Amino acid sequence: MTLPTVDLWHTDLDASPDGRSLLTDQEQQRADRFRSTLDRDRFVARRAFLRSVLGRYLDRAPRSVMIEQTSGGKPASRDDPRLHFNLSASGPTAVLAVADEEVGVDVEMIRDGADVDSITGRWFTPGEHAAIDGLDDGDRVTAVFEIITRKEAVLKAASVGFALSPALIDVIAPGPVVVPTVPPTTWRVQSLSPHPTLAAALATREGSPKLAFHPSPNARWERR
Ligand SMILES: CC(C)(COP(=O)(O)OP(=O)(O)OC[C@H]1O[C@@H](n2cnc3c(N)ncnc32)[C@H](O)[C@@H]1OP(=O)(O)O)[C@@H](O)C(=O)NCCC(=O)NCCS
Repeated sequence: MTLPTVDLWHTDLDASPDGRSLLTDQEQQRADRFRSTLDRDRFVARRAFLRSVLGRYLDRAPRSVMIEQTSGGKPASRDDPRLHFNLSASGPTAVLAVADEEVGVDVEMIRDGADVDSITGRWFTPGEHAAIDGLDDGDRVTAVFEIITRKEAVLKAASVGFALSPALIDVIAPGPVVVPTVPPTTWRVQSLSPHPTLAAALATREGSPKLAFHPSPNARWERR
């Protein structure tokens, strides 16, 4: 499968129609194990969104899309290994990147009261610390979330998730980001700044891919 763009689909999980019938039996059983109704409904909406979008590319009914996990835990298409995707959700916002190359995406709600010092102390490199030093409180919180999403997008693209410490990658130095796996891999990462209350980032192997945005009418996402 060859795609001309990296496609970014996004939706508001809390405004989605009930998609339970689009899930496999196993996913429905997983949904039933959530104690919180909100978490359960968002899980169902997230999976229905993923299956509906992938079904368009694969020309399959959402429920019959075959999703497997790679050894690092990253979900992948069993129907067509040339179709790559990655999903992220924060609160009601979900974003799904679809491409013909490895891709990683992350979205986070910017939480003003977040304890950013504990995050930066554990996971930021000296260069990343330098980038946020001197910013006033509001700008600092936004910058911290932008760096977090860049780190997560790269680690998710590389399929390692948080099995590899985010402290080991620097996502603001110029040039590609090196992930110290064996062998090492290099990634391009870009911030998406979708909305004043959201931070998001996309990681791909090649430089500057062309992006195509596919909003749902209710999504809290604007391209800036
Ligand atoms: C994969 C990981 C990075 C998920 O991050 P997250 O921000 O919690 O969640 P996201 O919504 O962005 O991503 C979850 C989705 O990523 C995908 N995913 C799961 N494992 C993955 C992996 N190893 N690689 C890439 N993608 C993965 C799945 O589609 C998953 O959706 P699902 O739960 O519906 O199956 C996870 O390994 C993790 O440990 N997160 C910790 C986050 C954290 O503490 N951040 C601190 C700030 S630096």
